[in-house]
Order: sequence, then structure tokens, then C-alpha cells
Amino acid sequence: MNIILLGPPGAGKGTQAQRLVERHGMKQLSTGDMLRAAVKAGTPVGLKAKAVMEAGQLVSDEIVSALIGDELDALAAGQGAIFDGYPRTAPQAESLGEILASRGKVLDHVIELDVNEDALVERITGRYTCATCGKGYHDTFEKPAVEGTCDKCGGHEFKRRPDDNEETVRTRMAEYRAKTAPILPIYEAQGIVSRVNGMADMDDVTAAIEAILGKR
Ligand code: AP5
Repeated sequence: MNIILLGPPGAGKGTQAQRLVERHGMKQLSTGDMLRAAVKAGTPVGLKAKAVMEAGQLVSDEIVSALIGDELDALAAGQGAIFDGYPRTAPQAESLGEILASRGKVLDHVIELDVNEDALVERITGRYTCATCGKGYHDTFEKPAVEGTCDKCGGHEFKRRPDDNEETVRTRMAEYRAKTAPILPIYEAQGIVSRVNGMADMDDVTAAIEAILGKR
């Protein structure tokens, strides 16, 4: 099964994608994570993307679509993909259709996380991850069981994203409204869009997504 998780910054796409990976062995394809890895490694893509990401704007369609194609080719036979943060523009949606079709794959569900934007700033500015394994946490909503120790790998170092400040978050939300929300009708016309209340408890959001996936 191949699905898109769609929603503005902080809607919970990454959180829910990690849970689907753990439960179903699907692969999370996060263009944000791929770009951050490229920035960290100082690759040509990373050098182009760094300033754009720090300003909260979108990296070029060509760059991200190339990243996705490479990752899809690395999937195990029969392994499903969770597109997290991709596609984000109409040209990216078109590219994804071509990328999937050329590999004999289809898109099964587009799940939109419906959220109240005002609450997202708190979610994002309180977010951090384990520097070793990448597990996500939040200052208020998801703390490690033992303070300072990662629940998953026992690591003690944590990090925050440079674009997780209020000003950049506002730009990212504006980009979402202007360029990403308008792609929904493409998928509505295909009859594959479902909406989930992204303001509910994380476990309830997961249950709602599982119910959608169980339908087909
Ligand atoms: P990207 O990394 O994709 O960031 P984003 O879309 O802004 O989304 P986030 O990762 O911020 O949020 P999320 O929805 O995953 O929320 P999370 O689960 O962490 O992109 C970053 C940048 O890269 C872009 O700005 C752009 O420059 C570039 N880029 C990436 N893809 C691109 C593309 N396709 N095209 C062009 N440019 C691209 O949750 C947030 C916090 O809330 C967490 O702490 C979590 O614990 C908490 N939380 C989650 N769910 C709940 C809940 N139900 N209740 C309470 N708290 C919750």
C-alpha cells in the first residue's frame, strides 16, 4: 500500500509515519528528512537547499522529485511507501503520478490531517528528536519516560531543527496554504482522500488512520 500523509507543518505527519513504519514495516519517505541529510552531508543538493529551508520556503520541484524516485527504487519487494511532506505542489503531484506509474505502483490513500494552525506553532517550537535514532519528542506532548534518555535507543543527545522557530513556521504555513492545499482536488477527483482530525490525541489519530488503511 502506498499512501500520502498531507497536512501543514506540525500536523503530525512524521509522528504518524513513524508509527506506521513500526506497525506495518512500510517505508517513510520524508523529503524533509532527505533534504536535511543532504544539508548535513554538504552535498550539492544540500548546498542548494539549506538557505531555502531555513527561510521556510519550498525547495525546487526537480530536486525533491529526483530524491523520491531514488528512494522508491530502494524499497523492498512489496514494501509500501508513506509519502511524508511530498508532494507539496501541483508539479510534484504530477511527477509522483509518473514516478509511480513507471514502476507499476499506485497510490491507495491520501490522508489529510485536519488541524488548527494556531496550535501548530506550540507543537513545532516544542519539538525535538533523539540525535542518535531520530525518534521524535515534544516538551509537553511526548516526553521521554526518563528525562534526558531516549525511550527507543537509550541515547542522551537531542536536537532541534533550525527552521522550528515561530517566524519560519509562519512562512511554512503560508507556503502550505498557497502551494500544497491546492493539490487536494487532484486526489479528490480520484476518490482517494480521507480526512482525519489531527487535533485529537496521537493514539486516536493513529487509530483513525488504521481504520482508513483497513478499508482496502
Ligand atoms: P518537512 O520536514 O517536511 O517539514 P513540515 O512539512 O514543515 O512538517 P513537519 O516535519 O514540521 O511537521 P509534521 O507534520 O511531520 O509534524 P510532527 O509529526 O513532527 O519540511 C521542511 C522543509 O524542507 C520545508 O519547509 C521545505 O523547505 C523543504 N521541503 C521538504 N519537502 C519538500 C518538498 N516536497 N518540496 C519542496 N520543499 C520541501 O509533529 C510536530 C510536533 O507535534 C511533534 O513534537 C509531535 O510530538 C507533536 N504532535 C504530533 N501529533 C500530535 C497530536 N496529535 N497531539 C499533540 N502533539 C502532537
